[in-house]
Amino acid sequence: MNFIELARSRCSIRKYKPEPVSEDLLTQVLLAGSLAPTAKNLQPFQFIVVRAPEQLDALAAAYPAPFLREAPVVIVICIDPGEAWVRQRHDDRNYCEVDAAIAVDHMALAATDLGLGTCWIAAFDPDMVAAAMQLPEGVEPLLLLPLGYPAEEGREKSRKSLEELVRYEHW
Ligand SMILES: Cc1cc2nc3c(=O)[nH]c(=O)nc-3n(C[C@H](O)[C@H](O)[C@H](O)COP(=O)(O)O)c2cc1C
Repeated sequence: MNFIELARSRCSIRKYKPEPVSEDLLTQVLLAGSLAPTAKNLQPFQFIVVRAPEQLDALAAAYPAPFLREAPVVIVICIDPGEAWVRQRHDDRNYCEVDAAIAVDHMALAATDLGLGTCWIAAFDPDMVAAAMQLPEGVEPLLLLPLGYPAEEGREKSRKSLEELVRYEHW
């Protein structure tokens, strides 16, 4: 599969088979995340791998859509804004979330390439996730990434056309 085919075939999966994900596949997905570029190479994030049933229950309570609890693995992407690059010379913009999003995209694409399904999840209760994951002060949960074998096809892609998205030389 070339890159455009891979990007096309990645889609949000909201139904998972109960089959476990092997250690080898999980490691490949995590490795893909670790290879992502970050501003100044600071890598201001941690990936928490959650497989224990009671911890999966706690995540499901923070995001009560049934599909999250179906996945055998959930990766909790945590950011540490204090560790991230900040554009101090101009506007103090913190690039932590950009860095973490690239890592999550690498993981989601790697999972697709390995025959696994994922879904980016942001609409969870961050306080509940922080408590369940015992996050230290200053560390925040940014995204949940369930990982498992898809039990559905995924929806047809609907995207803006290049004509709608792209401008040349100026706005
Ligand atoms: C930052 C971000 C947050 C998202 N949060 C959720 C979420 O909380 N729940 C959910 O079901 N899908 C969530 N999604 C999935 C999007 O709805 C989905 O990617 C989009 O509709 C495009 O569909 P596709 O992933 O199948 O291509 C999120 C996606 C992104 C990138």
